[in-house]
Amino acid sequence: MAEKNLTHLLLEWYAQNGRDLPWRVKGGAHPDPYTIFVSEIMLQQTTVKTVIPYFERFMKRFPSVFDLAAACEDEVYQYWQGLGYYSRARSLLQTAQNVVADYGGKFPRTVKEIAKLKGFGPYTVASFSALAYNLPTTVADGNVIRIICRMYRLTEPTDIIKDKILLKAEKLTDKKCPADYASAIMDLGAMICTPKNPKCRLCPWQHTCKSCGKPDIENIPNRRKIAKKEMTGFVYVIRNRKGAVFVRKHTEKGLLSGLYEFPWGEEKMFPQATDSGYEVTHIFTHIRLKLRIYTLAAEKVDMKGEFAEPERLSTYALSTLMKKVWHKI
Ligand code: ADE
Repeated sequence: MAEKNLTHLLLEWYAQNGRDLPWRVKGGAHPDPYTIFVSEIMLQQTTVKTVIPYFERFMKRFPSVFDLAAACEDEVYQYWQGLGYYSRARSLLQTAQNVVADYGGKFPRTVKEIAKLKGFGPYTVASFSALAYNLPTTVADGNVIRIICRMYRLTEPTDIIKDKILLKAEKLTDKKCPADYASAIMDLGAMICTPKNPKCRLCPWQHTCKSCGKPDIENIPNRRKIAKKEMTGFVYVIRNRKGAVFVRKHTEKGLLSGLYEFPWGEEKMFPQATDSGYEVTHIFTHIRLKLRIYTLAAEKVDMKGEFAEPERLSTYALSTLMKKVWHKI
């Protein structure tokens, strides 16, 4: 079947079955690019179900790019707490400030300018351009890769055939309704062409798909797994006589930058600390980090930071890893 017909079938399916999502309008671009900006950054590496309540709280507190640009980093982190990958929150704030300072609060409208915004990788440039401005860009996230590989039975490892997949995805992209098309193909991946138990009998592309109903469909796409690096360390829960606990701000660059944490690192950072017997494990994108929890009573700590009363700990943007430590202890 020609790509044009496939696109038409998909758009018809979407009109009937597409999800209603709080950042979505059907029938064209969203009238407010800021809504698409916030949701697309939140949806990077995070599922729709997780994002919805965060998005709603965030938009209530920061309803426009001006409200966000005027916010302080710590407050933005608070609204991000639990979503993970905090560099996204930093980029979100920085981009809002740039849009206000450089573009008078109006998001740029060309792909070239959009690609310069902080936090916008190739995927987000494409999804933002399509959803906010109806520009004919091709969205190629994990959902789209899965759909294309199954439909054309591309079974080689995806990292080798990336260009081929992108070319197929481009050919399918509807040039008249790119916003609806982008939402439609995401929904097809999320609702029908799911990683496990795909619902082939409900798929608008079942008559063309070369993997439809085949027993090996769950093995496509062929993704080579990169082994996660194992790392271990020690984390120190230090409390004073009043029961307050010592926290510091993570100032080094990287995933945890700007978040609060209990001091952690090598063994013997605090030689008098005692082993609690507990440990926590946290999976980052390419790292599996295991921290052994040590405790210590002290009135002063020889590093930058402060003692926080446990009741006030929720006002600090603690990383998910540190929340796990606190719950264990
Ligand atoms: N994943 C990334 N962007 C999305 C969107 N706008 N709707 C649903 N899932 C998404």
